[in-house]
Amino acid sequence: MRDKIRFVQNGRVRELENVDPTQTVLNFLRYIDAETGTKEGCAEGDCGACTVVLGELKDGDVEYQAVNACIQFLPMLDGKELITVENLKSKDGTLHPVQQAMVEANGSQCGFCTPGFVMSIFAELHGRNSQELSDINNVLAGNLCRCTGYGTIIDAAQSVALQAPADHIHARRALTSALLSELQQDDSLALAQDSRRYYAPKTSSELADLIDQYPDATILAGATDIGLWVTKQHRQLDNIIYVGNVTELKELNDDGEYLNIGAAVTYSHAWKALADLNPDLGEIVRRIASTQIRNSGTIGGNVANGSPIGDMPPPLIALNARLILRSKQGARTIALEDFFIEYGRQDLKTGEFVEAFQLPLKNESAIFKAYKISKRFDQDISALCGAFNLVLDGNIVKDIRICYGGMAGTPHRAAKSEQYLQGKDWTLENVQIAMTAMAEDYTPMSDMRASQDYRMLAAQNLLKKFFIETTDPTTLTRLVGHGRVAHA
Ligand SMILES: Cc1cc2nc3c(=O)[nH]c(=O)nc-3n(C[C@H](O)[C@H](O)[C@H](O)COP(=O)(O)OP(=O)(O)OC[C@H]3O[C@@H](n4cnc5c(N)ncnc54)[C@H](O)[C@@H]3O)c2cc1C
Ligand code: FES
Ligand code: FES
Repeated sequence: MRDKIRFVQNGRVRELENVDPTQTVLNFLRYIDAETGTKEGCAEGDCGACTVVLGELKDGDVEYQAVNACIQFLPMLDGKELITVENLKSKDGTLHPVQQAMVEANGSQCGFCTPGFVMSIFAELHGRNSQELSDINNVLAGNLCRCTGYGTIIDAAQSVALQAPADHIHARRALTSALLSELQQDDSLALAQDSRRYYAPKTSSELADLIDQYPDATILAGATDIGLWVTKQHRQLDNIIYVGNVTELKELNDDGEYLNIGAAVTYSHAWKALADLNPDLGEIVRRIASTQIRNSGTIGGNVANGSPIGDMPPPLIALNARLILRSKQGARTIALEDFFIEYGRQDLKTGEFVEAFQLPLKNESAIFKAYKISKRFDQDISALCGAFNLVLDGNIVKDIRICYGGMAGTPHRAAKSEQYLQGKDWTLENVQIAMTAMAEDYTPMSDMRASQDYRMLAAQNLLKKFFIETTDPTTLTRLVGHGRVAHA
């Protein structure tokens, strides 16, 4: 075990000892390194002022991704490359092409948000796979400008986005790759500060042993929930076990029967596979938070936190996903819907962790749709999220699974509505009766996101929308077979 964290910055390996396990990367940069280019706006992952870029080794090359430094803990840097806005300028002081583009487009007013925007654009320039930047809004949705200079910022982004990266960071990519490979050979990390511990196991069995030894430890994945426990609730976390280095939990594969997604796979890494399975599933992932949050947040964290308004459980439950839970004693597989017992209580026994999800692939005749309703299109939590999975025999409902988030204390299937529709003709008349039956399925609450009445009406209308879309011949082709048939 190793008690110093090691990461790459500016083409060399940095080693830090006596690290506070929950010190944020942002506070480290500003208060220890005295590098104040990275700003603090919200300290909760919303504004993007703190955006930095992480480089990680993937398939022998460096993958660059923007993240929110305000909710990343310092030990999470271990084994990665850190790039901040201070690292972009050349040695001779020449501005980076992204910075220069911001200057030329007048993309900065008070300047507070500017480093964050620059880092998001820089990550896109280095990280994208295609030569097109068709959706700049998506890249910048996690960066807020209080001076609202978006037009010029978008101009700046567009002017550099089509260039191939040709900076000093690109020039030393092979060196960075070699340094990151060297770091990968390191032992697992085990930090101690006073009575507080931080472990970063590398295998599932090492993880199971640690959780068995420290059953009360906080399991840490992307920290997009847990980071806020520290920055907003000022909680002290005594023992932390980080799952982001566990090989088995980062696996993503298709075994012909299931799409297997490790619990520590981030939204960004799962996005393509989920969108290939079904375009609506891909769209739900795209609507989660921002690029920065999707680069760190995991599907495992979204399920394990038990939130009734998490966006992944409704579509995954509608698609009949299974959950693999593991402990030192072995593994068990349950239906994902059975994991959520009641608000704040999940079927996770002492010593267990979420290891993976399994999404059935062979449902060629099913029609699937999912809808997220939130006040803002980007970077907003759902008021409700509905997912529908229908199998028709002719026009008779052979099977239907309807699941909503935001309608109860847990993500929950609409049992009465489903029951009514089962075996019936798929007609508007029957759908309208099922919409009425939904009042028996749910008693939603009123909160800042939506009133009880709004939630119920919206949920009922989503079922109607699903009916209309499934019976409209122009959209039907696109929907059948989990999106694995030709798109309209
Ligand atoms: C700005 C912002 C916007 C957001 N927008 C959305 C949104 O649009 N939709 C949405 O659904 N969510 C949203 N979230 C919430 C959050 O991003 C997700 O819930 C995310 O998936 C959590 O994953 P994580 O890896 O960051 O989990 P962490 O924060 O690391 O952990 C979350 C919880 O899961 C537990 N956990 C993690 N992994 C495991 C495991 N393998 N086994 C057992 N327990 C585990 C942790 O102990 C903790 O209780 C947003 C958050 C922020 C900060
Ligand atoms: S300071 Fe606002 S996202 Fe980090
Ligand atoms: S330029 Fe002022 S916050 Fe963006």
